[in-house]
This record gives sequence, C-alpha cells and structure tokens, in this order.
Amino acid sequence: MDLPDVVRARRMVRTYDHERPVPVEAVTALLDLAIRAPSAGFTQGWDFLVLRGEDERAAFWRLTTDHGDPDSWLNGMQTAPVLVLCLSDPQRYLDRYAEPDKGWADRDETRWPAPYWHIDTGMASLLILQTAVDEGLGACFFGIPPDRIEAFRQEFGIPADHSPIGAITIGHRTDDPGSAGSAAQRPRRTPDEVVHHGHWGG
Ligand SMILES: Cc1cc2nc3c(=O)[nH]c(=O)nc-3n(C[C@H](O)[C@H](O)[C@H](O)COP(=O)(O)O)c2cc1C
Repeated sequence: MDLPDVVRARRMVRTYDHERPVPVEAVTALLDLAIRAPSAGFTQGWDFLVLRGEDERAAFWRLTTDHGDPDSWLNGMQTAPVLVLCLSDPQRYLDRYAEPDKGWADRDETRWPAPYWHIDTGMASLLILQTAVDEGLGACFFGIPPDRIEAFRQEFGIPADHSPIGAITIGHRTDDPGSAGSAAQRPRRTPDEVVHHGHWGG
C-alpha cells in the first residue's frame, strides 16, 4: 500500500477473528519496522514484549482489567491473537545524554522539554499500527491502568525502570475500523482548526 493509503486506512480495531492466527513473520515485520522509528539522540529507548500464547494473554487481561463480567470492549479486545506491550526506558536516555556529545552529565530530567522516552516509544508504536495495516491486519493501541502496572510487572518480569506506555492488540479485524469505541462519533479536527501559520491567530 502507498503511505497515504496506509495512514488513511488505519483505525483502531477492537474486535478480531480469534480463530485466525497471525503468522509469526507478520509480527516480526511489524517490529522490524517499529525499530526504524526516530529517537532522541538515537537512544532507541524502547522495548517490546510480545504475548502470543493463550495463557500469557489470559494473564495479561486478568491482571490489567476489572474483575467481573467483561464489557463489550474487553470481549472484543480479548479476541486478539497477539499483544505487544510497548515499554519505554528513561534511564537509557539519561545515560545517552550524559555522553560527551550531549553533555547533560547531571542527568537532570527538567532539561527535557517532554519525556522523549515516552515520545519515541509512541513513535515506534505508530509504526506498528501502520505496518499492521500494510500487512492486512488490524491493531489497537490502549493504556494499562496505572494501578495494574505492578501486578503486570511481576507476572512478566518487567524491570522496574521500564514503563509500559501502552499495549497493542493485533489480529485480523472483524469489526468496521473506527466504528467502535466511545470516541467513534467524534469528528476529526480539520487542518483549519489545528494548523496555525506564522502566528497563533494566523
Ligand atoms: C495514547 C493513546 C491511548 C489510547 N488509549 C486507548 C484505550 O485505552 N482504549 C481504546 O479503546 N482506545 C485507545 N486509544 C485509541 C483512540 O481512542 C483512537 O486512536 C481515537 O479514538 C481515534 O480513532 P482512530 O485511531 O481509529 O482513528 C488510544 C490512542 C492513543 C494514541
């Protein structure tokens, strides 16, 4: 697919064909392109945890969602045959920027205009979402509730200094992308609304 077609076709997919596995080669293709994302200082402070096994995925959902009857969102998302957890690594940035060419030896986090460790992992996540479209797959990025992160860490052996910024479900879609989710009826903001030329009022 051409890039504009990929970008326009990409919508978050929240229901999948749970009987149709995703070939391991396709997952590899997504992650091979994810690591082409730009990163501050070429730090590449991202890690990905792939969950393909049924037990692994069940443990993820059990630990990161409310107990009780699953809602339609969870019922749909649980049909995904693959989960990719996206983790950022702040320490790697502080170490990288303490190197002589950057010179931030004090490792002071207030120097950073924004937490680039999360931004870079977000950029890599977008490449996963877009490559999924190109591979004929669907995907959805979503957050893990902060109060569930510790249990998730323990179960999967996540180091304390790595932050799970989100997770991505991947599979063959069964829903009409963009038709589900609480935001589905919201209009897309137009270029006229969001782009400012020369001056904020421009
Ligand atoms: C940082 C981030 C967090 C998101 N968290 C969730 C989430 O927790 N659950 C969910 O269903 N969708 C989540 N989404 C998907 C958004 O709802 C979706 O991108 C938005 O409604 C626009 O729809 P589209 O991506 O299909 O164009 C998230 C998206 C981003 C970028």
